[in-house]
Formats: sequence, C-alpha cells, structure tokens
Amino acid sequence: MQNFTAHLHEEAGTLALGASLAHALQPGLTIYLHGDLGAGKTALTRAMLHALGHVGHVKSPTYTLAEPYTVHIGGVAVNVIHFDLYRMGSAEEFLDAGFREYFNQQTICIIEWPEKAETVLPPPDISISLTVAGEGRDVELQALSDQGVECLNRLKFAPNL
Ligand SMILES: Nc1ncnc2c1ncn2[C@@H]1O[C@H](COP(=O)(O)OP(=O)(O)OP(=O)(O)O)[C@@H](O)[C@H]1O
Ligand SMILES: [Mg+2]
Repeated sequence: MQNFTAHLHEEAGTLALGASLAHALQPGLTIYLHGDLGAGKTALTRAMLHALGHVGHVKSPTYTLAEPYTVHIGGVAVNVIHFDLYRMGSAEEFLDAGFREYFNQQTICIIEWPEKAETVLPPPDISISLTVAGEGRDVELQALSDQGVECLNRLKFAPNL
C-alpha cells in the first residue's frame, strides 16, 4: 500500500491510529509528520510510543529538538528518536548536535516540522500529514520507499466513522 487516508473524528482516533502504526513499525524507518501547530503530531507520536511499551511521559522536545526512547519490537531493543524541529535555527545546529547519526537501520526517527531542516534531513520512508477538518483531523499517510510500503502493508487500521 502506498497511500492511506482517514478521518480521525476525535483525539481517540488519532491515538488509535498511533497504536495501529506502532505495530507496523520496523527499525530503520524515518517518518515525517506534517501539519500545523496543534494538528496532532505529538499526540500521534505519543500514542505510538505508548503502544510500543514506553511507560511515562512523551513531551514535545521543543527546546532540545530531539528526545530518545528505547522500546522493544519483537523482543529486540530499538531506539526511537522523536524530533520537533520547529525551533531549529540552522542546518549547522542539526549537524553539530550529531543528529545525522540517529538515521540508521537500528533506529526509528519520527520528525515533527521536517520542513525546518529540509537541507540536512534524510528522506522519509513514510510521510504523514494531519489537517484540521471540522472538529477532527484528516490524515494522509504516504509510503515513499520499499520499507515504507512494507510498513503500510502491515498497517491494520479501521477508523470509526
Ligand atoms: N483527531 C482529533 N480530533 C480532535 N482533536 C484532536 C485529534 N487529534 C488530536 N487532537 C487534539 O489536537 C491537539 C494536538 O496537539 P499536538 O501537541 O499533538 O499538536 P502538534 O501537531 O504536535 O503541534 P505542534 O506543531 O505545536 O507541536 C491536542 O489538543 C489533541 O487533543
Ligand atoms: Mg508537537
């Protein structure tokens, strides 16, 4: 599957999508999260991390830009890095922080505001766009690599319309 769209008519829908996506994730994936302030990018990430077994807070890494987590997928420890690049000042900041090293086949990178780092970010396997639609959100998932297609093929999600 290359494309997937759904309407998430309340926050519970976003959380359900996050949980479904979590079960389809594999190490090595890079996921871009597009959407305006308050669209639900952090809510979706939080749901993924909790469904992967992370216990505790998932707050937006507004000032640190990146927050690492360790979860288990199929009994194997996997690093998940949650980026929020909204306040990134320059490409040098990204490179100097060593963020490029996070993009490897053992790690999952989830990136809010990838637009802020276009010149230095590796390309995504999956691009997710969240848009406010009425009281809810529209979501579009796009697979942009073989790994991304495999992930969306594993995705089992049926929103309550
Ligand atoms: N499907 C939905 N329907 C209605 N409200 C939703 C839905 N999904 C999430 N929300 C709400 O929208 C808000 C999303 O906030 P969140 O911090 O996740 O946004 P964000 O995209 O990460 O914004 P920012 O760019 O500021 O980081 C939360 O208040 C959440 O309850
Ligand atoms: Mg956010």
